[in-house]
Amino acid sequence: MDKDRRGLGATDRPQVEVIAHRGASAYAPENTLAAFELAVAQNADWYELDCYISKDDVVVVLHDTTVDRTTNGTGPVAEFALEELKLLDAGSWRGEAFALEPIPTLYESLAMAKDRIGVYVEIKSMASDSELVAMLLEMAEETPHMTPEQAEAFMAAIEASGTRNLALTRESIADIRSLNMEDQALIQSFSAIVCFIARHEAPEIVVEYLGGDDPDNPQQWINYTRLGEFLQVDGMNPSHGSITPERLAAFQEAGMRVNVYTVNNPEDMARLARMGVDGIITDYPDVCLDLLEELGLR
Ligand code: G3P
Ligand code: CA
Repeated sequence: MDKDRRGLGATDRPQVEVIAHRGASAYAPENTLAAFELAVAQNADWYELDCYISKDDVVVVLHDTTVDRTTNGTGPVAEFALEELKLLDAGSWRGEAFALEPIPTLYESLAMAKDRIGVYVEIKSMASDSELVAMLLEMAEETPHMTPEQAEAFMAAIEASGTRNLALTRESIADIRSLNMEDQALIQSFSAIVCFIARHEAPEIVVEYLGGDDPDNPQQWINYTRLGEFLQVDGMNPSHGSITPERLAAFQEAGMRVNVYTVNNPEDMARLARMGVDGIITDYPDVCLDLLEELGLR
């Protein structure tokens, strides 16, 4: 599989891509098929969505660890079976027009996109995995890039840990593969463990690593860049406030694409597009597309 083929128009990708954050979520309830359909209608290049796994091992799409904020239910998503999640109303909180909009599965969200738009599948973390991350950072001190021997040993450690992130990542990969969407969907995550599993078990799928700079914790950025290089991810997707021209150049010179989140202010969109980012993740794909066209970047 040619890894340059991502999303639609992959042979002819725009200079700056527009990724609809949780769908066109400024206008429709985030992470619902309504928001995804609107992203298609607004001509975004991709829609982004967030994944957790249900009690009965189905990958479902919502942003928070609980259903409280975006549905009429309460409780952790991990404690619901799919059938129970499907009874919840994930639309009314954004207005009557969206009443009874359900929580979609990843499979349904991918099927809607097939041959129409790319999908950024963000795999959320269902466990902190702090011991595994510490192990990964130790391995990264031994060698610049992970070796096959290190990868095998680390996979065994993940399996032994019992982390729920393993089933979540494996089931997400299975959904992408079952629809033959390896060239149309990519995986991104803030979890280095999820990024590792995806790279190790699905080398044909593009993997991008999410992160950000915290001025109160400079080690966070150091670890982020170190692990991105160690795992040789395809892209580094930092918060838009973290990126500088120097950091952007360093990632791109290392062969990684850079997509910034979540950019809703047109002045920031213009500044970042001129800086040369590869993609902008935004709740307002329509505004971003118009602006890029005005700037001659589409
Ligand atoms: O696409 C990146 C962005 O979605 C990460 O932040 O919290 O909105 O998932 P969050
Ligand atoms: Ca997200």
